[in-house]
Amino acid sequence: MSKKGIFAVAISSPKGGVSKTTLCHSGCWAAVNNFNTASYLIHTDNTEPVNIDASRGYRQYDCQFAADPIRDKSGEQLEKVKYYWNNLIEMAPKDERSIMFVDNGGNKEELALFLAEFADLIIIPTVVDGISFKRGIQHYNQIKASNSEVNVRFVVAGHNGKFAKRDQDIWDSVSDELKPLFMFLGRSSDLGVFIIDDEIKKKGWSQPNTPAANYSRAFFKYVLENLPKQD
Ligand SMILES: Nc1ncnc2c1ncn2[C@@H]1O[C@H](COP(=O)(O)OP(=O)(O)OP(=O)(O)O)[C@@H](O)[C@H]1O
Ligand SMILES: [Mg+2]
Repeated sequence: MSKKGIFAVAISSPKGGVSKTTLCHSGCWAAVNNFNTASYLIHTDNTEPVNIDASRGYRQYDCQFAADPIRDKSGEQLEKVKYYWNNLIEMAPKDERSIMFVDNGGNKEELALFLAEFADLIIIPTVVDGISFKRGIQHYNQIKASNSEVNVRFVVAGHNGKFAKRDQDIWDSVSDELKPLFMFLGRSSDLGVFIIDDEIKKKGWSQPNTPAANYSRAFFKYVLENLPKQD
């Protein structure tokens, strides 16, 4: 547990294109706009962070390349993650819930170990294809091996959990023990709004009943349900 008040949620997978960044922004947006919860995003993966402006209501800290074995050889970016993380914990009011999301992609052992030790919840997103499921489960095993107590869930973006015949083997490859850890979040055709700034303005992202807003609320509710209970 990070500290009473602020929770740390890592959205983590070495597999590309599984919705890590989208879930981070959706979660931050819903927290601030629907759940009266201050939110922060720590960007660590090897892609450019999404441009956001103040109208979104949450802040993003850029630690691009953190713990990448080649691009962060000196460890400077990983130190930055820890610096923002510790500052957010330090500054968080104890009697108000706030939340930080960490967007973590790539094969970054040191960061994965840090998150396994300190995050309150790690979400491994996956999309429905054999490789994504396999890589997601490998990531789960890596995290569990470093901390058997870690709180991990899988979120399947863009799928309602009803597997077509041709995809049934993908779901069958998941062990019965892991199946209850999966949450299916469904599709949202306008989800791009969360990661493309101009689109947000065009589509009225702040309207509470857009599919993206509903989707984000469903995701954030799931996050809240799976955080450790505060005493
Ligand atoms: N639930 C969804 N329904 C429809 N499209 C989605 C959904 N979630 C994500 N997408 C789309 O899938 C694509 C990949 O998502 P995203 O960039 O969030 O993945 P990522 O894991 O962060 O990728 P990278 O590894 O490149 O950082 C984006 O175009 C996004 O708009
Ligand atoms: Mg991303």
